[in-house]
Amino acid sequence: MTDYLKLAEEMESPRRFNHSVNVAKTAVELAEKYGADVEKAYLCGILHDIMKDRSRNEQLQVIHSADIVMSHVEIANPKLWHSIAGYAYLKTKLGITDLDTLNAVRYHTTARADMSVLEKVIYIADYISEERDYNGVDEMRKAAQISLEQAMFIALQFTISDLSNKKMVISPYSLDAYNQLNVDYYMKGKII
Ligand SMILES: [Fe+2]
Ligand SMILES: [Fe+2]
Repeated sequence: MTDYLKLAEEMESPRRFNHSVNVAKTAVELAEKYGADVEKAYLCGILHDIMKDRSRNEQLQVIHSADIVMSHVEIANPKLWHSIAGYAYLKTKLGITDLDTLNAVRYHTTARADMSVLEKVIYIADYISEERDYNGVDEMRKAAQISLEQAMFIALQFTISDLSNKKMVISPYSLDAYNQLNVDYYMKGKII
């Protein structure tokens, strides 16, 4: 069996590897709290940024080798490439077939509507891992203790307005996720 921890250490910068280990730890805690598969959560945490420190060329090569055609929005935002490349790498190079694991890596940057618990766990763990210290991280950590959806809503609200302020493209996946949370939770009063 592949030693995924060692693989991540080899493919990532020390800073990124530390982040990945922290995301895995937080993902395990969230998986235990919200009922996702703990082993998958750990694995996704370790592997979610596996392609992030690779060159853009390498990321595109892996994406193409998995026969993935990127949308215009994805092509326009190279920051999205590492998630898609990560998905492709897990699938084609590591032979991981579990769809939930693959999707959790693929959508960890944009989110999407109808995410599984595991996908939400990885998305949020990436925001609140131990080394994160951005303005508002405490609010995110508190929200994650209340519900994954509440934390996701805050994260998406921030991300979408930030991208818009910077005149960057916004993934339809993020908008779908935001709208679904808005309708399902915010409008029904479940999110304060
Ligand atoms: Fe990432
Ligand atoms: Fe990350």
